[in-house]
Amino acid sequence: MPKRRYITTPIYYVNSVPHIGTALTTLASDVNARYWKMQGHQVTFLTGTDENGTKVFEAAQQSGQDPMAFVDAVSAKFVEVFRGLRIEYDDFIRTTEERHKRAVQALFERLREAGHIYLGQYEGWYDVSSETFYRESDLVDGKSPDGNEVRWVQEENWFFRLTAFQEPLLAHIEANPEFILPEVRRNEVISFIKQGLRDASITRANPGWGIPVPGDDTKVVYVWFDALINYIAAAGWPDGDWQSLWPAEVEWMGKDILTRFHATLWPAMLMGAGLPLPKTLVGHGWLLMGGEKISKSKGNVVAPMELAASLSQTANCELDFAVDAVRFYMASVLPLESDATYTRDDFDKRYNSDLANDLGNALNRSLAMSARFVDGKIPDAEIEAEVAEAIAHAKAGFAAAMDGYRVADATQAAMGLVRFLNKHIDTRAPWALAKAGDPALPSTMRSILMALRAAEGLVRPIMPVVADEIARQLGLPPTTEWSSIGEASSLPAGTPLASPKPIFPRIDTKAKAAEQRAKPQPEAKPPKPAAPPAEPIAIDEFAKVELRVARVLEAEPLEKADKLLKLTVVVGDERRQIVAGIRKNYSPEDLIGRQVVVVFNLKPAMLRGVESQGMLLAAVDEEGGAILLRPDKEAPEGAKVR
Ligand code: MSP
Repeated sequence: MPKRRYITTPIYYVNSVPHIGTALTTLASDVNARYWKMQGHQVTFLTGTDENGTKVFEAAQQSGQDPMAFVDAVSAKFVEVFRGLRIEYDDFIRTTEERHKRAVQALFERLREAGHIYLGQYEGWYDVSSETFYRESDLVDGKSPDGNEVRWVQEENWFFRLTAFQEPLLAHIEANPEFILPEVRRNEVISFIKQGLRDASITRANPGWGIPVPGDDTKVVYVWFDALINYIAAAGWPDGDWQSLWPAEVEWMGKDILTRFHATLWPAMLMGAGLPLPKTLVGHGWLLMGGEKISKSKGNVVAPMELAASLSQTANCELDFAVDAVRFYMASVLPLESDATYTRDDFDKRYNSDLANDLGNALNRSLAMSARFVDGKIPDAEIEAEVAEAIAHAKAGFAAAMDGYRVADATQAAMGLVRFLNKHIDTRAPWALAKAGDPALPSTMRSILMALRAAEGLVRPIMPVVADEIARQLGLPPTTEWSSIGEASSLPAGTPLASPKPIFPRIDTKAKAAEQRAKPQPEAKPPKPAAPPAEPIAIDEFAKVELRVARVLEAEPLEKADKLLKLTVVVGDERRQIVAGIRKNYSPEDLIGRQVVVVFNLKPAMLRGVESQGMLLAAVDEEGGAILLRPDKEAPEGAKVR
């Protein structure tokens, strides 16, 4: 019987719509949940919205709307964005729902009955932006430690005896090394608690919005005390079958809400109520932009679905695949210990190198070669040992990373297999095996397809729609079981393959840059007069030049030659080394994977001591620089150019 796993995200404030920073926690949890589902675990994945705080109430007032209508609309926006991003949650809780209110009031009562809650006088500062109480001594230059405005609060409130839990909390953290991850955060929490906890004010004066304190409706429950309870409320506590879900296997969040709230207040509340604690709390780092956390209050937000739509336009890729590219980006940068910086440039570069070049090429090449060399069907042969080993290695690497909740490392493990596959194709050179009539060809081709099939399984938790498309092109059903990855049964011999269809066209970064440069040009140069035409030649003279479509496999600068790049290209069945004077206009990563046109029958020449076995065709720009020619759409490998 597989074990039931409950996985939660924080619930999101509905003062504004989601951005790629807030979507990050949910995406991480989604990858995690999908992976566990593939492993056969029974998973319940919870997300939702946090709707009762001052921040949300004030945002509603500012918008001039009725608060309930306002939170309904913004919460619906989260649902819409999460659906758009294919977040496969099983439950979505809103703190304005009855099931949540009931649980909050029940827990409040239980703690009050147990003597953990008392009435007192609060005097201090309140940061509405993070909904946090601060002492005078916590402030930095009159602001919260995060730099937010604070306001003075003086009110009668109910207090929770957090001080009583200082030692039990430390004991629990020390006895359970997996309770707080990563380790650096665990250490932060330990030192925060050791500095000494204070009893926590857990109510606010009732502004007409929030969950009233049972038996005292002059006050509402403090939004953090209220919000944390969502996790057990959604599990059905106090009266449902909550024990089948609770305690959570993992609670995901950003580092900003770990120390004070999830790793201190929350476990103390649970201890006070005699309830078990979640097994693991993961506090990931932030996504920054311009050196600052992406957040609505900083005004530097990027909306995930807009990013997908824009990528779909610039790269000319289907929106469905662009959404997966956004998911892939978030998974591959997901910072655990440190923070990561988002720039559109970096996003585009990763798209080009990891998705267009590595994954896109692996798919295209594998299928194009299968069509030529094994009749477009999955062959029946032995899997090469090094391929079986690479698959096992990537699979184990993915699993080990996910065991430590390292989503970015898991993504790297999956992409490691894709990169291996591209290299393996180059080394085994099926076109050469075919030419030589080598009997190893079916085994090589089956191994290539097996690596592709395994990659489809490994990338599935991150890019579910892309994985479906890879499976479709392989003529196979989606990989649903983790255990089947790499198994012979996952690749039935004789299955007809679909014809290759590119999923991630490259973004032409040079064209994009040129477009940018072209925009602000107030003083356009007068056009140069065209060069006088050369002597006419007869068609049969031109026909002597054999032009062919090639694909760049490798590119690197040539040492001590600042204009030259050394390229390895494949032209149909053959590999060639070409030295090209294009370094001023192209960097190696612009070239790897793209198709170019080469003069195939040029006599080899030595350039700076390196043999060049052909020449690339390029137009010449105003400064004498190169603009490489390429086919208008993907051409068959090695196609003749006339
Ligand atoms: N409502 C509270 C959570 C209550 S949970 C009982 C809250 N909401 S939030 O909308 O402000 O943040 C939700 C999540 O988004 C948190 O995990 C937070 O760390 C994460 N992020 C918000 N901006 C982020 C970045 N720029 N980068 C990474 N994560 C970010 O806090």
